[in-house]
Amino acid sequence: MKVLVIGSGGREHALVWKIRQSPRVSKVFCAPGNAGIAGQAECVDINVDNIPRLLDFARREKIEMTLVGPEAPLTNGIVDSFKEAGLSVFGPTARAAAIEGSKVWAKTLMDKYNIPTAGFAIFSDPVSAGDYIKKNGAPCVVKADGLAAGKGVIVCATAEQALAAVEDIMVKSVFGSAGKRVVIEECLEGEEVSVMAFTDGETVVPMVSAQDHKQVFEADCGPNTGGMGAYAPAPVCTPEISQSALEDILKPMVSALAREGYPYQGVLYAGLMITRQGIKTLEFNVRFGDPEAQPLLMLLETDLIDICESVVTGTLALQKVSWKKGSSVCVVLASGGYPGYYSTGYSIEGLEGLPDDLQVFHAGTKIKDGQLVTSGGRVLGVTTFAPDIQEAITKAYDGVNRIKFKDMHYRKDIGHKALNRHPCR
Ligand code: AMP
Ligand code: GLY
Repeated sequence: MKVLVIGSGGREHALVWKIRQSPRVSKVFCAPGNAGIAGQAECVDINVDNIPRLLDFARREKIEMTLVGPEAPLTNGIVDSFKEAGLSVFGPTARAAAIEGSKVWAKTLMDKYNIPTAGFAIFSDPVSAGDYIKKNGAPCVVKADGLAAGKGVIVCATAEQALAAVEDIMVKSVFGSAGKRVVIEECLEGEEVSVMAFTDGETVVPMVSAQDHKQVFEADCGPNTGGMGAYAPAPVCTPEISQSALEDILKPMVSALAREGYPYQGVLYAGLMITRQGIKTLEFNVRFGDPEAQPLLMLLETDLIDICESVVTGTLALQKVSWKKGSSVCVVLASGGYPGYYSTGYSIEGLEGLPDDLQVFHAGTKIKDGQLVTSGGRVLGVTTFAPDIQEAITKAYDGVNRIKFKDMHYRKDIGHKALNRHPCR
């Protein structure tokens, strides 16, 4: 079987790595891919936004399964186009993917179907948003409605910060048309966890829980990034919390979308806050998390292609999905300065001779003049598996310590929240 993966990050490298383990797969393509992916798949120089060219390619190569990594092509309708052309594609349609593409729509649905989430109000003009902030005060969270490359959420400690966020989003349009509307939310306190599930629109099969590390510095300090590391399972997600995530959040959202006429297929990601009042939904994503996908795919025992097929054909209820016992950790190595300004083009050393059970998933890398160099904010994700979390952390950092590039930055506390907790899933 020929498979196409769309995207160019660490998540897509992990997808390619996992798919190549399937005895059913004869060839893997990745568009556009990166320098690491190029070692395991044939990279095709087509941007993720160019749906017509991706479709042409898939038809020409007779691709039998396409997996879409990032959200933008999903919300832009890549699945609709491929399905219309009779191609098998894993992911939600544009209408279903709008739960990530529009926070207003996601909150409206959560409200309508009683899915637990932070209290909120929606605004389409900055004056009313400002009045609301002056009346209700801080802390609060201001969110641009549309996709903003992970930067559209501003957690505000003071009313002044919230007013400035509204000004930036709605008046200065720093996120373009994504900021035409804003959601202003109650600020929740607690620990975050990511719970993802496979769904064919009816059956919902949860994955092992995972925890991301969004802030750039240790102890969750500094600005939010795309994610500086992740591990799975996350012991903070007790069996009771996992059950509640499935029954109160994931299944209700899948049936809500079906009832609205937009059946959902693919991976549904719930970003949750574990508060004293129970779990609440921070966001839905319509794809694997990045970097959560890296440890999750390392733990997944089942052939991913079998799962994708059962999702696409609506037979997930008949598909067994099993996970390795143990823990997996991914430490992201980033360019110094990220998520702000950073330089690229630095040569990357130390990737040879690493232990076999350690995978270095590439994100922002490319080959320049025959040399592997940095080309993005998040550069590599050093990912390991071990029987327990402490061992997985130690192994991951042993790998990290052998890799070098100029101004390399990484968090030294990935997985630490899981230590000293009773392990469970
Ligand atoms: P989102 O993209 O909506 O998940 O938001 C990005 C990050 O902002 C989340 O991972 C949280 O750390 C934070 N965040 C979002 N909504 C809230 C909220 N209502 N209360 C506190 N923090 C939040
Ligand atoms: N790691 C968070 C995300 O993928 O959105």
